[in-house]
Amino acid sequence: MRILNLGAGGFIGSHLTEHLLSSGHEVTGVDTHADKIEDLLDHRNFRFIQKDIRQSGFDLDRLVSETDLVIDLIAYANPGIYLRQPLDVFRLNFIENMKIAECCVSRQKRLVQFSSCEVYGKTAASVVPGKLQDPEDPALAIFSEDDTDFILGPVAKHRWIYACSKQLLERVLHAYGLEGRLSYTIIRPFNFIGPKIDYLPSDTDGFPRVFPHFMEALIKGTPMKLVDGGRHRRCYTDIEDAVACIGRIVDNPGRVCDGQIFNIGSPENEVSIRGLAELMRDLYAERFRKPDVPLPEIVEVTAEAFYGKGYDDSDRRIPDISKARTLLGWEPRFGLKEILERAMQYYVREHAS
Ligand SMILES: NC(=O)c1ccc[n+]([C@@H]2O[C@H](COP(=O)([O-])OP(=O)(O)OC[C@H]3O[C@@H](n4cnc5c(N)ncnc54)[C@H](O)[C@@H]3O)[C@@H](O)[C@H]2O)c1
Repeated sequence: MRILNLGAGGFIGSHLTEHLLSSGHEVTGVDTHADKIEDLLDHRNFRFIQKDIRQSGFDLDRLVSETDLVIDLIAYANPGIYLRQPLDVFRLNFIENMKIAECCVSRQKRLVQFSSCEVYGKTAASVVPGKLQDPEDPALAIFSEDDTDFILGPVAKHRWIYACSKQLLERVLHAYGLEGRLSYTIIRPFNFIGPKIDYLPSDTDGFPRVFPHFMEALIKGTPMKLVDGGRHRRCYTDIEDAVACIGRIVDNPGRVCDGQIFNIGSPENEVSIRGLAELMRDLYAERFRKPDVPLPEIVEVTAEAFYGKGYDDSDRRIPDISKARTLLGWEPRFGLKEILERAMQYYVREHAS
């Protein structure tokens, strides 16, 4: 199949491109940078276009018309950006993504659209804690694609512009689907981790996700900062598990993925951010630590000090993956400790000189 992979140079995009090429597909990748896919640039079935899709001269329509399937990974995907540049998040994650979707409509091409588990927002337990019998019940935090209601924070907490942009895009794709004008599949990733995730904070002007922040603290012996005590919980998912599932969605056997939304995540790997910091510190001490670098302390910081104004967060989210299990026969294989070890190994190799 000829596949247009938009955002091919990112964390998921780099792993997915490798998988698609090894599965025999012809891939055209687009991204603003190629540092995570340098080893793929000479592959005979890979063409890379280094461009910002917003640049004049970027001919999206031609690329879409030449392909069989479009995969759209392009987005600002880090909370630091939602807080500091909310308008840019809306413009890229909704307006620019809409252009891609509309091109697929006009050229009649199938679209695999990356959304986010952030669309679910918070648990009901977190917004009406006193009224629930057992707010700790994990059943209250299990989010399923076609049944769960979305609970987002107020406008003043501008972090939610990311979730809203993704949600609105999903709704537009669904509406095109209702009119029979677009064949699409939506993916909601639940906290993927693996080699090549973001960059260490000191290596970039951007704002990486929590794993690279903790990794830098471990490598340099500086404090591991827990926003608001690190009480929020996440289900971490190995990038290799995730890509195996995405690969099945790309193949779309019997067109079972048409018009579907899929959670991709590892429900068994739930941990609080504090628990993540502690586990990473223990693993680092056991496996990777250099004797002359002290182990970092774990400290608490306020969200405002870390992110600035407008922060809010999902308290807990556990994916219901029964759809991926039944329609795709997919099951995540990696447990939390193994996921972290594999990702940490990459960073240690790349950065600890
Ligand atoms: N990684 C996760 O766990 C996760 C969770 C939820 C949602 N997602 C979604 O999955 C998708 C991919 O996420 P990721 O983790 O790989 O993030 P990422 O930031 O590593 O990848 C996004 C890629 O898009 C590229 N890009 C951004 N703007 C561009 C532009 N104007 N022109 C060309 N390229 C541009 C970036 O350079 C980057 O390489 C995103 O849509 C994200 O919202 C990911």
